[in-house]
Amino acid sequence: MSRTRAAILISGRGSNMAALLEAAAAPAHPVSYPLVLSNDPSAPGLERARALGAAAEAVDHRAFGGDREAFERALTARLEAAEVELVALAGFMRLLTPVFVRRWRDRLVNIHPALLPAFRGLDTHARALAAGVAFHGCTVHLVREAMDDGPILGQAALRVRPGEDAASLGRRVLALEHRLFPACMAAWAEGALMLDGERPAAGPIALSDTA
Ligand code: GRF
Repeated sequence: MSRTRAAILISGRGSNMAALLEAAAAPAHPVSYPLVLSNDPSAPGLERARALGAAAEAVDHRAFGGDREAFERALTARLEAAEVELVALAGFMRLLTPVFVRRWRDRLVNIHPALLPAFRGLDTHARALAAGVAFHGCTVHLVREAMDDGPILGQAALRVRPGEDAASLGRRVLALEHRLFPACMAAWAEGALMLDGERPAAGPIALSDTA
């Protein structure tokens, strides 16, 4: 079986990265992850990746003096050298320019901790609680030029518990993220989510934990 080679981009602890690497340890999984890259050399996820047997490196954005496109050219050079076809953004905290997004169009997959298009941006769990939503969750989507926008490959939903705080909600959403992201990467790599316009023809993957 030939597997699709993918990279994982991180900035922090890398729990989604670990979920992707663990899923790819199964021989039948259709994606392999030959490279983990962080924009922050001190990201704890780098050590975690190595402990899981992955090659992990930093491309420090601070070395580019605020020149985003130069930073992204360095990322692309590294990704091309590793011969990856897909890139998973797993808590990668740099905004990407249209040049990079176009270079990796339909190959750049992000996970966002809310049910898009609700709650784009940061602090999604506190904002969901403040809005009084009954359901919350996470979304895996292809990256387009606007932030937290693009074809939805999958979503996972849970029911918000009465009196729940943002930390608890975040933990429960994170557990769903760890199931959803590997499933979406696998389905996208296998061609099971072919797009018709800007949505998967067969519909997105839907998971729930609504007990
Ligand atoms: C996750 O909540 C993810 O949805 C968001 O950033 C966080 C990364 O967490 N994009 P981790 O580094 O994967 O633990």
